[in-house]
Formats: sequence, C-alpha cells, structure tokens
Amino acid sequence: MNDTIHESSETHSSNAAGGRSAGAGRLVVVSNRVANPDQLQTGGLATALRAALAARGGIWFGWSGQTVADGCEPQLHREERGNVVFATMDLHESDLEGYYANFANRVLWPLFHYRLDLVEYHRDTYASYQAVNRCFAERLALLIRPDDIIWIHDYHLIPLAGHLRRLGFNNRIGFFLHTPLAPEELLRTLPPHRELIGALQYYDLVGLQSGEDLRALREYFTQTLSARLQSDGALHMPDGRVFQAAVFPISIDTRAIVEYAEKAAGLPAMQRMRSSLSGRALMIGVDRLDYSKGLPGRFEAFACMLEHHPELRNRVTLLQIAPPSRSQVPEYQQLRVVLEQAAGHINGQYAEPDWIPIRYVNKSFSQRRLAGFYRIAQVAVVTPLRDGMNLVAKEFVACQAPEDPGVLILSRFAGAAAELDAALRVNPYDQDEMAETMARALQMSLSERRSRWRSMMDHLCNNDVNHWLERFLARLDASEPDGDLATDPDFLPATPATGQFAQPYT
Ligand code: UDP
Ligand code: G6P
Repeated sequence: MNDTIHESSETHSSNAAGGRSAGAGRLVVVSNRVANPDQLQTGGLATALRAALAARGGIWFGWSGQTVADGCEPQLHREERGNVVFATMDLHESDLEGYYANFANRVLWPLFHYRLDLVEYHRDTYASYQAVNRCFAERLALLIRPDDIIWIHDYHLIPLAGHLRRLGFNNRIGFFLHTPLAPEELLRTLPPHRELIGALQYYDLVGLQSGEDLRALREYFTQTLSARLQSDGALHMPDGRVFQAAVFPISIDTRAIVEYAEKAAGLPAMQRMRSSLSGRALMIGVDRLDYSKGLPGRFEAFACMLEHHPELRNRVTLLQIAPPSRSQVPEYQQLRVVLEQAAGHINGQYAEPDWIPIRYVNKSFSQRRLAGFYRIAQVAVVTPLRDGMNLVAKEFVACQAPEDPGVLILSRFAGAAAELDAALRVNPYDQDEMAETMARALQMSLSERRSRWRSMMDHLCNNDVNHWLERFLARLDASEPDGDLATDPDFLPATPATGQFAQPYT
C-alpha cells in the first residue's frame, strides 16, 4: 500500500535557513502517531488531526507504526489520500523501546498526568528519546520548504523544534501539547527538565489545552528559567528569545459526529444493542485502557451505586469500551489485570441470570459505531483522574438526540470540564459522590437534560476542531519572526546531530 518516499522529489536545496514567510505555505503536521487512513486509531490526537487535516489539507509526518530490527534499514513511506500526504518512517525496535515505551510513556506521560509514583527515569532512555527526535528532524529536513508552516504535536516530540533550528530551519514552528502540563514543582523532578521543558522556547507558539496548563508553563519558565512574562502573554527568555504560549482547547468535528449518530440509528448493530438491553438504561464509558482514565474507581463507583440503590439493580448496564493501549508498558499490563478482576468481582456479586451489570469490552470501534452507542446511552461516565481534554466527552454530547438527550458525568480534572460546564461534574477521587451522581443522572428529568445538553451543544457547534485549527494557525501566522538561530554560535550543537540516524536512507 505504501510507496517508499522518493526523497529527492520533496527536497529543496534552499530550505535550510530560508526566509520566513507567512500565510501561503503548506501545513506540515508532525506527530508520533499518524492516523493511517486504513487503520482504526484510538486516541484524541489521531482523531482530531485526521479531521483537521481533512479540512485544511497538508502533509502529516510521523512514525509508520512499524519497526525494523536494529541494524536493518528503516523505510520512509509516502501515501497520498485526497488533499493529505502521509509521510511516515519506521523506527528501530530498540529506539521504539527507549523513546516511546520508556521515556515518552514511562516518564513524560505519568509526569504530565501528576503520577510521579509511576515515573521510571533512566538516562539511556532519555538519550534514545533525543536521538529519535533528531532523527525526526533529519527526515523532516528532506520534506520542508522555506515557507512551510510546521506544527508539531505532543510530548513525544518536545525537542523537535530545537533540532530543526539546529539544522538551520527558521520556518514558523508551532507546538501543541495534547496532555496536561504538570505544575512547576513536579516538572522539576525530571532530571533533564531544563533541557527538555526549556526546549519549548524554540517554537514560535506553544498551544495548551487549558488555563491551568498555561499557568504551569508560565510558572516554569518565569521561576525556573528566569523568563519574563510580557504584557501580550509572550515569554521573553534572558538571552532575548521570545515565544508565545496560549490556550487552544482541542475539539471534535461536531457536524460529522452528529451525522454519524443520526445515521447509526438504523444500523443492525444498534438494533442488536437495543434489544440486548431489554429496556434497561445504558451507561457508557469509552477510554483507552490507561491509568489516567480512572477506570478502577469508576467500576467501584458503579458497584457502590448498585449497593446503595437496590432499585437500580437490573435496571441499568454499564458498557465500558476499553481498547488496549501501549501494551508493552508494564503499568498498562497491570491495569488490565486489575480491571478484569474488578469487573469479574462486581458482576459476580450483582449479576442475575438475565443481567450482567458491567459489559467490559477490550476492543476498539470505529467512530461511526461509537456514535451509535452514544446515541443509545442515557448516561456517559467520563471520569479521568487527569486528562488533557477528553474528546469522548464532547463526542457523547454531539451524538445525543435533541428531543431526548442523555446526561454527561464528567471529571473536574478533564480539560473538557472547563468548557462543558453543564455536565454533572464530579471528583473522580470521591467514589461516593460519583455513585450518587450516577444515580442522579439516571433519574434526571427531561427538561433538565434538555437544558444542560443545549448549552453544551451550542458550545460544540461554535467550537469545533476546525475552529481550533484555524485559531492556532492564525496565531502562529501572526507570531513575530525571531532571530535566525542558525547563525547564533551559542545555539549550534557541540556534537554531530545523531549516531545511527545520521546516515540518510537511500
Ligand atoms: N476512539 C475510537 N475508538 C475506540 C475508542 C476511542 O475511535 O474504540 C476515539 C474516540 O472517539 C476519541 C479518541 O479515540 O476520538 C479518544 O480521545 P480522548 O481525547 O477521549 O482520549 P485519549 O485516548 O486521547 O487519551
Ligand atoms: C493520547 C496522546 C496521543 C496518543 C494517544 C494514543 O491521546 O496524547 O499522543 O497518540 O493518547 O496513544 P498511543 O501511544 O497509542 O499513540
């Protein structure tokens, strides 16, 4: 399916250190995960960028999802679909292990989600993370033109702009962090925090999900790196470098999701789902199998609701869709065991011959199928302990029938809680409160459901993923060009860019 990239066709000899121009350039989106058009992808980054790029067109560069044995030649792939070019590269097995499975997902992910207890820092995995970022920069250098706008995404690629600047690129480069950003005191526990978090200064614009994340970034830069916060919100570094940071809450393709939900109603799978419920209410949760999602606490809260509200037994089913995620990481393997035991235990305690309280499903579904399930559900439970945004919460709202909408229960610690203020907001650390809120949601009057839903839906119609993309790009376009870092002797790398990645793929 994929063609190996003909590098020369995308290469422009004058790209490095080219002049910066605004507006007309191609959009080059870079992320570790790329939503291959033929594969089911779970994760907010993939779904949001897929929708945003389909509207705007551009190049999407990232990891192919494939590995090659160490010592073998990784391939670059290129595939064009409509107005989007997917340009991806393979990674060596050991690099994927160090960069993705370890540093990104056993250091940065837990740290940014306030789980210091789960952080496993080692110098060699940080070295691997930096090496893969340099490799991304070297591969990207073959694609970039001087007027391209480069938009880099998420915690896997924080140092990428710095590496591109070192290679001489002074294009406009933006960054968007899909996760939360931990407060300054927590960031400082990361041994290379100055180098890593400090590397955000090489972007022209850093986008964050919420005001809380922006506060954390500003505190880190002003208190730890002695930056000055300017009156326009920009951060002024002691060496004179200036970069912008602002809040851009990510969103969904509201119109497309509404259409999925309307069309799904007639699917045989939805009819089967309805008849399997035999008139019982459906409560739904959809989350990657990740410890940040608060799944054990949610199961416990559901059990607590059944315990304290016997009248609800045999009247409601919790469907928890939890596709496996990052299964090579030990913490994720452990969570899977914990949840299987919890679901088994609760079902054993409360099930009847004709009713199972929790349907726990470890596989992923297309967004069309999910939209149908959301439409059937009376209640969604979105109770992460910490979440950058949580698009499932927004998708659930968009899928509701206006005349009879369901109720959203939403963690206060999801980024979405700042926007979806008509949801029933809960503290995911308080199981009793969650249990009572579940019971309340199941019994809420139609008029209250309608008025809560209306205000959230109005917000999502006015703030969809295209709005997010346009706002970010307009702000990036307006950012002041900074000095040419390629000519700054302090900035030039002391050592050659990479070890094994330094050789071009030919
Ligand atoms: N998703 C999906 N199929 C599934 C489960 C999830 O397509 O089986 C999608 C879901 O519709 C949403 C995204 O994955 O768009 C999850 O994003 P969210 O922001 O809720 O959480 P994340 O996984 O990014 O932490
Ligand atoms: C979160 C992260 C994304 C990531 C997604 C799925 O949404 O912010 O960067 O792509 O989870 O995780 P995975 O490790 O499978 O890419």
